[in-house]
Amino acid sequence: MLFLLLAEFIRAFWILFPAYAANCFPTFVRVYGIESHPIDFGKSYKGNRIFGDGKTWEGLTLGVMAGFLVGLAETVLFPSLSLYANQYGVSLPIMNALIAFLIPFGALMGDLIKSFFKRRLGMKRGQNFMFFDQLDFIIGVLLFTFMFVNYTTIMVVWMFIMTFLIHRGASIIGYALKIKREPW
Ligand code: CTP
Ligand code: MG
Repeated sequence: MLFLLLAEFIRAFWILFPAYAANCFPTFVRVYGIESHPIDFGKSYKGNRIFGDGKTWEGLTLGVMAGFLVGLAETVLFPSLSLYANQYGVSLPIMNALIAFLIPFGALMGDLIKSFFKRRLGMKRGQNFMFFDQLDFIIGVLLFTFMFVNYTTIMVVWMFIMTFLIHRGASIIGYALKIKREPW
């Protein structure tokens, strides 16, 4: 049982590593003051912004590129790493260029869709939307990759648990380092 939990944890992390890169890199747009353009072109829908100023083309591009690079690195390592993992009874989910792209792209689409709903609820950019702010991108990853990745229930549960914990930890550190404006 313990071994199964560990194996599923590794499988979950393998899939989410590119998504973490995708989720993390867009924040550099603000941190480094990169000139950026909102995805909704500043347009509103029923009185509120469609996505808001927190979702930019530059952030999306940077995030997808960063996540794709991580995914490509995993693609290159896959043949040898999966052999190695197999010796210990862990079957790594397959990684290839398509999945390496769909993971970060799905992650940021999940983030974008969440912002759409935040704006519909009248929430300001950056306002805390507990659980959804932390977990939006997993839903995006699952939606875009379920046809290609052999997900198991335990693996998906791990994806949510580990992301919530990593996100909370990283946000608190990022806030302390003044990279993030809010501690969530
Ligand atoms: N960001 C971006 N483009 C994206 C996603 C994020 O430029 N597609 C940058 C923005 O500067 C954003 C920051 O990363 O403010 C943090 O991202 P996030 O927390 O997802 O956005 P919020 O500012 O909290 O906006 P929202 O309320 O819509 O979630
Ligand atoms: Mg936020």
